[in-house]
Amino acid sequence: MQNTQLREILSEAKDLIAKAASRSETDEARIKFLGKKGKLTEILRSMGALGPDERKALGKRANDARAEIEAMLARKFEEVKAAEHALRFSAETLDVTEPGAEIRLGAKHPITRTIEDISRIFMRMGYSVTEGPEVETVFNNFDALNAAPNHPSREFTDTFYVTKDTLLRTQTSPVQVRTLLSQAPPIKVISPGRCFRVDTADATHSPMFHQVEGLLVDEGVSMADLKGTLDAFAKQMFGSDVKTRFRPHFFPFTEPSAEMDMSCFKCGGRGCRVCKGGGWIEVLGCGMVHPNVLRVGGVDTERYTGFAFGMGVERLAMLRHGIDDIRLFYENDMRFIEQFG
Ligand code: FA5
Ligand code: MG
Repeated sequence: MQNTQLREILSEAKDLIAKAASRSETDEARIKFLGKKGKLTEILRSMGALGPDERKALGKRANDARAEIEAMLARKFEEVKAAEHALRFSAETLDVTEPGAEIRLGAKHPITRTIEDISRIFMRMGYSVTEGPEVETVFNNFDALNAAPNHPSREFTDTFYVTKDTLLRTQTSPVQVRTLLSQAPPIKVISPGRCFRVDTADATHSPMFHQVEGLLVDEGVSMADLKGTLDAFAKQMFGSDVKTRFRPHFFPFTEPSAEMDMSCFKCGGRGCRVCKGGGWIEVLGCGMVHPNVLRVGGVDTERYTGFAFGMGVERLAMLRHGIDDIRLFYENDMRFIEQFG
């Protein structure tokens, strides 16, 4: 009777252990047969009712069966443990040959790069770089720069006012005033920064744009120094083949005043679509600092003279890279900006 039961238990145990696919299933099988209430344990317990010979014979078989089940469990346990490890290793494996996730690097904005390049050229010529605020006083932006009280650029249709006495500067020229008020000659500075005008955006105008101002005040400074300096700048910025020319112009804060043109980078001066056939492109305004401006800074105008210039950074960057629409600088399209990185 118990013999048959023993065989059945053994074959049931073999099946169940064979099917176990994890450490916990293996352990369940162990409890089912060898646990306190396990099937084999019950058989061993029931042997007390047998006679001595019978008990001895069955006891041996039961112990053999127990040893066999234990051995199967031990093998199975090693097997599922190894399989679980293998699974975990493969799940956690790092493929060091796989390409990394791309880290997107930013790129310097072409306007920033152009300002840096302009600054480097003037720094090599001994200029220092200074900055002024974007919110300026009406005094620094207009009055001290000799602008007539009724000058049209003062109108709120041309200038963004913050209060009656303050505005978003329309040019970097107020830095001339700040410099003259805080330093004594000899003075040799440039000042890059943002400017604002109530201009409708089009291919060459933006309500916010950048200029680089230049100011040099010393003894015996002449228009020839101004022309030589700006010509040297143009050649360093655009190459030694570039030609410059100066046309008379008017600014309230310089006398005489001029605009500087550069021979067209595209056609070399023969005339093309970029220079609208003229062969020349206007790049900056300049002139000899008006004595009225020097006097605001308490400069002795008998002893000192000076020149100043103001260039449009977007204009220069467009020339340099052959960009035909200023609005591209401010759309923040990475595909555009990254081309200059
Ligand atoms: C001035 O602003 C003078 N302050 C320059 C100057 C400085 C003259 C020192 C003499 C001595 P103008 O208004 O022409 O000048 O502007 C100079 C340059 O700024 C222009 O040639 C142009 O390149 C740029 N600019 C002016 N308005 C805009 C705009 N709305 N968008 C983009 N660039 C502009
Ligand atoms: Mg102009």
